[in-house]
Amino acid sequence: MNRKPFIAGNWKMNKTIKDAIELINGLKRNLSDIEYVDIAVCPPFTALSDAREILMDSNIKLGAQNLYWEEEGAYTGEVSAVMLKDVGCEFVIIGHSERRKYFNETNEGVNKKIRAALSVELIPIVCVGETLEQREQGKTFDVVKDHITGALTGLSNDDVLKLVIAYEPVWAIGTGKTATPEQAQEVHVHIRKLLSELYNEETAQSIRIQYGGSVKPENIKELMSQPDIDGALVGGASLKLDSFVEIVKGSS
Ligand code: PGA
Repeated sequence: MNRKPFIAGNWKMNKTIKDAIELINGLKRNLSDIEYVDIAVCPPFTALSDAREILMDSNIKLGAQNLYWEEEGAYTGEVSAVMLKDVGCEFVIIGHSERRKYFNETNEGVNKKIRAALSVELIPIVCVGETLEQREQGKTFDVVKDHITGALTGLSNDDVLKLVIAYEPVWAIGTGKTATPEQAQEVHVHIRKLLSELYNEETAQSIRIQYGGSVKPENIKELMSQPDIDGALVGGASLKLDSFVEIVKGSS
């Protein structure tokens, strides 16, 4: 199965509009001729509109980091899927471990958010992954299974084919500690097996699974050399022009 590599930058709560414009202009200059990798940036909400202006007709796609599942109404502080579509997003990160940890996001909420995204043809990047404690207790596969089955509850085969999944071991996020390529590969295979049980083998083989957690220019090649790693969700290293450009270029 030929799955096109997909590198996305998760900027988290970083960058003013001015800084975002500068970085995105730089990315456009350096990455405009890349065809063999799908590329996306996910700036904070406040920079999406300016980012869209710059990225219109570009090979770099726009994503958001979260949404709320209701269409509209009295939900102070929230942003809907329609609004993200309106501002030019094609992707949205859902269920990031920081949202699960700091904002009490549950599998049920993740499932509702995925449905809301799909209803307006936004592509969800669904994050799953275990904490260090869970890994040390030998619970990695169970936690990932719980995240996957919870996130995908009630979704049809057609729906699931539209998703991107990101395996992000919590202990590797922002810690400088990357999972070894073998550790990541093992969990990616596990995720594909789950997808095959829940749907079918063809679906399992077509869905792209990114790895996330301290991805850097120095480790992208090794990670991408694993057969079931189809790309990366990059946090810290996506905030600097050179490192994100190197990661994209090193990913094929
Ligand atoms: P990191 O973050 O690359 O800074 O570890 C990855 C993520 O949280 O998506």
